[in-house]
Amino acid sequence: MTFVVIENCIKCKYTDCVEVCPVDCFHEGPNFLAIDPDECIDCTLCESECPAKAIVSEDDLPSDQRVFLKLNAELAKLWPTLTRKKPAPPDAETWDGVADKLKYLER
Ligand code: SF4
Ligand code: F3S
Repeated sequence: MTFVVIENCIKCKYTDCVEVCPVDCFHEGPNFLAIDPDECIDCTLCESECPAKAIVSEDDLPSDQRVFLKLNAELAKLWPTLTRKKPAPPDAETWDGVADKLKYLER
């Protein structure tokens, strides 16, 4: 099993999650973070840290978010590790909860 960053992270990218991960499995892209499923130890700590509720366990993935399982695995291999919180985008709050953000995912 692994934890998965889902759609609502896109353009919010608060990065609170990275501070609590004991095994540094978050990887940073331009406007989204990805969890490496090969590194995640299912400790659950990050799930409650995300202000955008954008992290769930693989077992709890809603059906419309299944695509993010593959995306996390793929993007985590391409992007560098992030272990320190950084400022969120200035308009992060306005994007929290917006539907259909997958089209804005930058690689
Ligand atoms: Fe890291 Fe634990 Fe979250 Fe997995 S569940 S990404 S190990 S904090
Ligand atoms: Fe994204 Fe939430 Fe982390 S918005 S960067 S998963 S704290």
